Amino acid sequence: MSSVDGFKDQKVCVLGLGYVGLTLAAAMADVGFKVLGVEIRDEVLDQLSKGRAHFHEPGLEDRLQRVIKTGHFEYAKTVPQSWDGTVYIITVGTPLSARGEARLDMIESVAGEVARNIADGDLVIMRSTVKLGATRNVVTPILDASGKRYELAFCPERTLEGKALTELRQLPQIVGGMTPSAAVRSSQLFQFLTPTVVRVSDVETAEMIKLIDNAQRDVAFAYANEVARACDAIGVSAAEVIDAGKLGYPRTNIPMPGPVGGPCLEKDPYILAEGLRERGVEPEIAMAARMINERQPSEVVDFLKGTTASLSGFPQRPVIALMGIAFKGRPATDDLRGTMARPVLQRLRDAFPDAVFRGYDAVVAPAEIKEFGLEPVDTLEAAFAGSSLVAIMNNHPVFSAMPIGHLSTTMAQPGVIYDFWNSFRSSDLHLADEVRYIALGSHGSTI
Ligand SMILES: NC(=O)c1ccc[n+]([C@@H]2O[C@H](COP(=O)([O-])OP(=O)(O)OC[C@H]3O[C@@H](n4cnc5c(N)ncnc54)[C@H](O)[C@@H]3O)[C@@H](O)[C@H]2O)c1
Repeated sequence: MSSVDGFKDQKVCVLGLGYVGLTLAAAMADVGFKVLGVEIRDEVLDQLSKGRAHFHEPGLEDRLQRVIKTGHFEYAKTVPQSWDGTVYIITVGTPLSARGEARLDMIESVAGEVARNIADGDLVIMRSTVKLGATRNVVTPILDASGKRYELAFCPERTLEGKALTELRQLPQIVGGMTPSAAVRSSQLFQFLTPTVVRVSDVETAEMIKLIDNAQRDVAFAYANEVARACDAIGVSAAEVIDAGKLGYPRTNIPMPGPVGGPCLEKDPYILAEGLRERGVEPEIAMAARMINERQPSEVVDFLKGTTASLSGFPQRPVIALMGIAFKGRPATDDLRGTMARPVLQRLRDAFPDAVFRGYDAVVAPAEIKEFGLEPVDTLEAAFAGSSLVAIMNNHPVFSAMPIGHLSTTMAQPGVIYDFWNSFRSSDLHLADEVRYIALGSHGSTI
């Protein structure tokens, strides 16, 4: 017997099988829902036909294979006319346009697909991150045009890539309904996944919670990066300042500085800002945070240009290795969307136009590293050997565990290891004589 037996909304259609839709579909199918996944990209459907996911997420492929086998998960390019479910969950992407504005076209088109298929009494749940007001002002008119009676709620996705399947079963689920009955019905549905549902007053409250959560994370990381700039300027170690400052002291909790990117933080503060500006409010702290986080690649590469220029014998055509191309290393992902390795690489190309660039990543496939514009290397040894500059870009555990002393001896000398993540204390290291280790926020420190 499946755990949803007797529940009226057992058949669910998830539209958009990306990082959010595919993990949600697998988790819901696993607790007994009959899930139809709809995805317009053929390559995603091709991978599913082989029991594979098109991205790295721990446990996902096993889960998919299981729910495909039990018949709880099916997938298609559009909603088949014969589909007789009662719930549509929208999980399409909401990237920024080339002009930096929140794109709504995918939401509009998928809402049109729902409107063509919806029956009286169905429930529609918006899960994509949207501009404030989009559920009411963009989705509702499209669904209204169907002439059907329906219920609508906004229930944001808040999981971390790399921990999605675990967090879908643990995190409180925020639920905001257009009506109380939409909220109650959506709450019942999510209670099969997670023990805690937080019902909020309306869809706008739920939309706002999602956006301010991510803006707050961006601000916290930006403050750490501001601390790093300050420490660079006065010659102390930001890692020591932050670690020592919060040890046993409950009122400080500054994260480590580092590159801030990824598919959510690169866009959500802008989506928040766009919705607020339409209402006459400028989110000044959130925008300052974006500015601090986005200018870091230029600042660091300017520093590296100056530092390497001062090293006698640093080559005109250095080999430069970028380590950790995915936007984060912990939890590990192969997601390259919004990775700060991209702007860092661009700035490095400007600063070192004759350099040869290599890329290493513990998770990202070599073909993708190549497409990114780097010559892929598949071991740490191959990345260090002969490099004049090695930049540790993400916090994958492989970097803090590597035998950096030995690896430094295989580099071209003079050489620089630049660490965006403070994985080591330079005072603990024994590197080759002419190799320097420099960490973000510790440019002038010897700690
Ligand atoms: N990635 C995350 O960890 C995360 C976390 C929280 C919230 N979100 C939000 O969730 C949403 C989805 O994010 P994602 O990372 O899964 O995006 P994604 O781009 O990986 O996936 C979206 C998928 O929707 C598909 N699609 C687009 N239009 C479609 C249509 N009309 N019918 C069917 N499929 C369609 C796309 O082909 C794509 O595969 C975004 O709004 C994002 O901001 C993402």
